[in-house]
Amino acid sequence: MSSALNDLFPHPIVQAPMAGGASCPELAAAVSEAGGLGFLAAGYKTADGMYQEIKQVRGLTGRPFGVNLFMPQPEVADPAAVDVYRHQLAGEATWYRTPLGDPDGGRDDGYDAKLAILRDDPVPVVSFTFGCPTREVVHALQRVGTRTVVTVTTVEEAQAAQEAAADAVCVQGVEAGGHQGTHRDNPETDGAGIGLLALVTQVREAVRLPIVATGGIMRGAQIAAVLTAGADLAQLGTAFLVAPESGAPTVHKEAMTDPLFTRTELTRAFSGRPARGLVNRFLREHGPYAPAAYPQVHHMTAPLRKAAARAGDTQGMALWAGQGHRLARALPAGQLVEVLAAELDAARAAAGQRGAA
Ligand SMILES: Cc1cc2nc3c(=O)[nH]c(=O)nc-3n(C[C@H](O)[C@H](O)[C@H](O)COP(=O)(O)O)c2cc1C
Repeated sequence: MSSALNDLFPHPIVQAPMAGGASCPELAAAVSEAGGLGFLAAGYKTADGMYQEIKQVRGLTGRPFGVNLFMPQPEVADPAAVDVYRHQLAGEATWYRTPLGDPDGGRDDGYDAKLAILRDDPVPVVSFTFGCPTREVVHALQRVGTRTVVTVTTVEEAQAAQEAAADAVCVQGVEAGGHQGTHRDNPETDGAGIGLLALVTQVREAVRLPIVATGGIMRGAQIAAVLTAGADLAQLGTAFLVAPESGAPTVHKEAMTDPLFTRTELTRAFSGRPARGLVNRFLREHGPYAPAAYPQVHHMTAPLRKAAARAGDTQGMALWAGQGHRLARALPAGQLVEVLAAELDAARAAAGQRGAA
């Protein structure tokens, strides 16, 4: 039952799931109401927390929306490396006056319990990141009418998603804000991330599945570009993070266009897995030696990040941001969907005119 997602909503615009609070029910509902696809992020939430948010979205809109799940992680972390990092973070714990979190705070993110809810009370779309679900899981969701999407960062991962019978792939370029959805974190491939246009083009030629393109997209003309390259939809995170409906902390939203922050980098400093954020003090100091240990490092730094956010200290927070962050526009989410759709139309018309000239 492989089918595109385009028939579910009018605009080829998806609001990226953003764990940590940004993609709250109000944001997802506003995007879906405007004719895009809003997404909830189940990551870091309990199964019940996820379900409450699903019910909230249903109370706000009757339109389709999606729920994003983190795949359970294999045990790859070296406990000795995690311990060394714990010592390296001791000064942060003193500075923010909080003990570090327990690195063994759980690796499966409540995956089975969340799936059970999504099978019992289906939602229109479920997407997965950090790995590829089994065929059984994909089929079980498809049987209850749910479309499935798997995030991929290479052609091989896209082929694995096709093997698993997913309905679509979310092709994530290295420009993307937040975590790379790589199926298996491997430090040997650090620096080998592929830019979105190159990746979409390769995946288009390698698999039959519909493509959702994501990473660094902030304007309608970029949506036109990825659709021309073979994508069916564009997914935007950073662009929606700054919307008034987004649950991201105000200081995170403001940092996106603050001239103080000029660069983004992929770092393991906050979570142990490569994620793109604005370069701040914490990232600069700890990025160079942070181990490949997700989610152990995520659990360990959680109290530090919370304390920094409480203090409004952007130098200690994980300021996830895509490479296009300076182009962020703090418009209400529904209005942003409309502006993006109008820009897309204008870009297509301009390209048509150039083609005809
Ligand atoms: C704050 C933040 C949190 C994110 N959390 C998730 C998540 O929970 N699940 C997921 O699949 N992707 C997550 N992402 C990645 C997005 O799905 C998407 O790939 C990315 O935002 C695209 O790049 P852009 O931010 O430049 O638009 C997150 C991104 C950001 C900025």
